[in-house]
Amino acid sequence: MENQNSKLTLYERIGGRDAVNKAVEVFYEKVLADDRINHFFDDIDMKIQIEKQKSFLTYAFNGPVKYSGKDLKNAHSHLVTRGLDDSHFDAVAGHLESTLIQLGVPPDLIDEVMTIVGSTKSDVLGH
Ligand code: HEM
Repeated sequence: MENQNSKLTLYERIGGRDAVNKAVEVFYEKVLADDRINHFFDDIDMKIQIEKQKSFLTYAFNGPVKYSGKDLKNAHSHLVTRGLDDSHFDAVAGHLESTLIQLGVPPDLIDEVMTIVGSTKSDVLGH
């Protein structure tokens, strides 16, 4: 049993599709309510925005499996041109962390998620 459990992906251990859908909803509200970062999402339509949040969480929950540094670098390069920096990255990461706390995700799983998110920083910021 122990062994089987350890083979579950982070996505499954967090609670699968229901947990991700709920997290997308809560995270989305926090990001768009935050005047430090919501201007980056001005030109993005709702449908693309929701897909963006799902992609974000897929990265965050499955990390190494789906991770491609090149894609993240390309996806954010036009935002770096518009001034995206460390402070914005930390604000987004903070909203994800508080979302997971709010949803009752266990601290050890939150640590795993935040490690994965942290590993994307240099690509997102184009360093
Ligand atoms: C913290 C780590 C981050 C991860 C893992 C991440 C992940 C992603 C992913 C997977 C996409 C979709 C790429 C695509 O398929 O086109 C995306 C797009 C986007 N991200 Fe991030 N992101 C991060 C940080 C940020 C930050 C800090 C901001 C701004 C404050 C941001 C704003 C955006 C916007 C506006 C788009 C849509 C770009 C477009 O459609 O033109 N992201 N992000």
